[in-house]
Parts: sequence; structure tokens; C-alpha cells
Amino acid sequence: MKFFLDTANVEQIKQGLAWGLCDGVTTNPTLVAREGREMEEAIREICELVGPDRPVSAEVLAVDHDGMVEEAQERASWAENVVVKIPVIPEGVRAMKTCSDMGITINATLVFSCGQALLAAKAGARYLSPFVGRQDDIGWSGMEVVRQIATMLRMYDALDAEIILASARHVGHVIEGTQCGAHICTMPFKVLDQLFKHPLTDVGLERFLSDYRAMQEELGEA
Ligand code: G3P
Repeated sequence: MKFFLDTANVEQIKQGLAWGLCDGVTTNPTLVAREGREMEEAIREICELVGPDRPVSAEVLAVDHDGMVEEAQERASWAENVVVKIPVIPEGVRAMKTCSDMGITINATLVFSCGQALLAAKAGARYLSPFVGRQDDIGWSGMEVVRQIATMLRMYDALDAEIILASARHVGHVIEGTQCGAHICTMPFKVLDQLFKHPLTDVGLERFLSDYRAMQEELGEA
């Protein structure tokens, strides 16, 4: 499974890259606004930081076909690794088709059902982003939607898309995503950091080091 960071925070991306655990970045208007930055300068900086081989999703703000296509062309011109995020509303699916025909890489966002994922994949979206956490918030199973999309993609070779498990809220979402066929998980930095954590690792490391130190002290004293 590839790990994307779901953030527009440059320091978090730098840390993820330093760990060798950032295969790409996704943003949305909320995440960019949280950094208090204009979309274009934030996305350009992130694209340069991660390098040309790691995709960076930048979302459109328009909600009509022509506006989305215009914004998609603009975002795609910012860097070669920009992926344009378009919502799976009817105008969005139309725009996905137009943009993918132009060679622009699309990430279909705000996916909450397998039906929406099917529409986006048929329109040429390269990435399908089911929002797992937000689905769980309303008492549905976001992971079940991931499972359905993964089954659908396995059945139809012509649907050439990858699942980005989005709206991941905790480590459990990442782990379950690996079992359900998500190709990528995009996660907040906090979740990436939590993946390292286990109390027995800390206790075990402390014991290994103190046992060895004790033996060295004994030898030193002898
Ligand atoms: O970027 C889309 C998605 O990952 C947002 O997550 O936590 O705001 O539901 P969240």
C-alpha cells in the first residue's frame, strides 16, 4: 500500500519524506485554507518539495463543467505531478471525462458509494477517493465501500483506476484498508505518526538498552 499525506503543511510533508513514508500528497480546500495560503503557491511548493515522481492532488473550486475544466488545466500547468481533484457531482463527472481526454490526471473526490466510483472510473479518473471516516461518522461503513470498489476494479480490467482510502482518521482505518484492497491510503500526519506507536516497543527497547548497560557496568567494575 502506498502512503500519501493528507495535508498542505510543508513541515509535515518534509518529515514524512525524511522517514521515507510519503509516496504522494493530497490536499483539499479546507487543508490549504488551514495553512492560510493561496492554493497555487502552496501546491507549487509542495510539488517541488516531493519531486516529480510523487503525485500531489489539488482540488478545483468551480462546480460547473467549464469552470472545473478551466481550473483543472490551470492546476495541471503548475507542475507535472499535479493530480486534479474533482467532486463526483454530475458536472464533475462530465469534467472528469473532458479532462482525462485531455491527458489531465484526475482524482475523483467526495466518493461515498461504489456507484459514484463507477461513474468516475468510467469517466477516466485515475484515482478514486472514498471518504471512509466521514461515512463512519454517520453510522455507515466506509470500509465496506472500499471493499466494493476494490471488487469492482478487480472484475473489470478496463476500469484502470486506483483506490485512495481518504478521510482516514486512525491507524485502524489504514490497517483495514490493507485488507480491503485500497491501493493507497491518504492520512493526516498524526495517523502516520501513530503507526509507529506501541507501548511494548518502548518498554522492550528500554529493557534491551538497560540490560546491556548493566552488563557493561558490571564488566567495568570487575
Ligand atoms: O482530503 C479528503 C479527506 O481525506 C478529508 O478527510 O478527515 O476531513 O474527513 P476528513
